[in-house]
Amino acid sequence: MINYNTIKAVIFDLDGVLVDTAIYHFQAWHRLAEGLGYSFSIVDNEQLKGVSRIESLELILKWAGLEKSESEKEDLLRQKNQWYLELIEQLSPAHLLSGSLELLKKLREKGIKIALGSASKNALGILQKTGIVGYFDALIDGNAVQLSKPNPEVFLKGAEALGIATADCLVLEDAQAGIDAARAAGMQVIGIGQAEHLKGADLVVADLGCLVGKF
Ligand code: BG6
Ligand code: MG
Repeated sequence: MINYNTIKAVIFDLDGVLVDTAIYHFQAWHRLAEGLGYSFSIVDNEQLKGVSRIESLELILKWAGLEKSESEKEDLLRQKNQWYLELIEQLSPAHLLSGSLELLKKLREKGIKIALGSASKNALGILQKTGIVGYFDALIDGNAVQLSKPNPEVFLKGAEALGIATADCLVLEDAQAGIDAARAAGMQVIGIGQAEHLKGADLVVADLGCLVGKF
């Protein structure tokens, strides 16, 4: 059960929660994996959600049974990100997921602090392209953390930057790694998407629009 009255801060994941970019990560990883001779499935992709770029590559190489040198890995990471950036070049406010803008506005009205807690190093550009960067009191992204979700670092840093106790923070996440990270941070967490991929969430809803009336 979520007690909405006690929440002082909401920490949003980005890809697949606020913005419809998870599909582009999938497409870019799919292209890279196929080039390596590995047949990359949507089931594989679920395990990459919320996970950093380098850890995602390490997983794909493991599944493919491949070993690469550090410089080969760097080339592969650069290639994946180049394809991803090409895919999101035309990103606009139209790519905001259902309820994103409404929920951000509502939280602002209610004086609830807002942070980003994302693994992505591309987060700032995405927030700018979709026109929502101004809603955030703190931005913690892939450039600000050492440890990938399910480690709680990204969310603990978000709470610290906002000056809010972890118990008063609510995390919104579409990835199992993110749900686990929020739990490890001692925060309440709502899963966005399908419950089968979001075990341990306090609640799972289809999209952010379901939460607008709760605050
Ligand atoms: C997460 C995505 O938000 O960011 C992952 O769920 C992605 O799929 C990770 O790999 C890192 O993103 P980027 O933009 O730094 O490659
Ligand atoms: Mg996500």
